[in-house]
Amino acid sequence: MRVVERIVDLREALRGSARTSFVPTMGNLHEGHLSLVRIAKAHGQPVVASIFVNRLQFGPNEDFGRYPRTFERDCDELRAAGCDLVFAPDETELYPVPQTFRVATPAGLGDILEGEFRPGFFEGVATVVLKLFGCVQPAVAVFGRKDYQQLLVVRKMVEQFALPIRILPGETSRETDGLAMSSRNGYLDAAQRAQAPALHRALLALVDRTRELARSRPSQPLDDEAVRRALQALEREAIDALRARGWAPDYLSVRRRDDLAAPGSADLAQRESLVALGAARIGSTRLIDNIEF
Ligand code: PAJ
Repeated sequence: MRVVERIVDLREALRGSARTSFVPTMGNLHEGHLSLVRIAKAHGQPVVASIFVNRLQFGPNEDFGRYPRTFERDCDELRAAGCDLVFAPDETELYPVPQTFRVATPAGLGDILEGEFRPGFFEGVATVVLKLFGCVQPAVAVFGRKDYQQLLVVRKMVEQFALPIRILPGETSRETDGLAMSSRNGYLDAAQRAQAPALHRALLALVDRTRELARSRPSQPLDDEAVRRALQALEREAIDALRARGWAPDYLSVRRRDDLAAPGSADLAQRESLVALGAARIGSTRLIDNIEF
């Protein structure tokens, strides 16, 4: 496995490769990342992973400075997972001049849910992903379902810019107690770690309650507005339950998978069309998760 830091070296190493598959990361890798590398490997070669902690997607009071950087261990794990090339630019390589051209994400997608609570986040993500795509020029790129909204933003960006890149999703890797793997789990102390699966459980409960609501429809037909109100009540319940356990939830919400809009009654009736998404802080650590159903 080669490690390159410069764009010229990356291009040289990839010259003539038409089937490159790519996994962008911010490092501090865990099994979730490595599962994406294995998917990439099954869909094209060489397999390129990038490691770059992207300042543009962090807010001024977020954890850019203390984001865990474990480069040597990451490289060992990537090598073992079958990665062929690691692209690890530093900031002066990827952003030699201020990145004043940005990818603006659409209203109603980039500014809701994560985007509402992390203003500028998806602009930062879309901008670096487009730039990394320009550097690596992959045929395939793999993104985790763990960051559901990010996956959707990337898919829609690729569509609208007609980029010749196939976006493949990877399932969310979880610890045995249900906690979605995340680099930020490392911030948790023992008590917080014990409490952390409650976010996933709250989403499971929200999914159950939504399914009950869907099943109750035939006896008691609900119009779109009634469905929205009923879902909002379930969401509030889920938020209050987490808050009672000491969390500070940003949102727990049931949305349509395709566009993250609030579901109406037709959406509720359709199986496999929804996703329950949540973000909440425990102590100073912000965790996110989602369940498609
Ligand atoms: P990072 O958080 O390092 O995640 C890199 C990739 O791993 C993303 O596609 C993410 O969805 C996926 N991932 C994270 N946890 C996962 C899990 N438990 N199971 C499966 N996949 C998981 O996401 C980013 O970096 C950045 O925003 C990036 C796309 C690299 C742009 O800077």
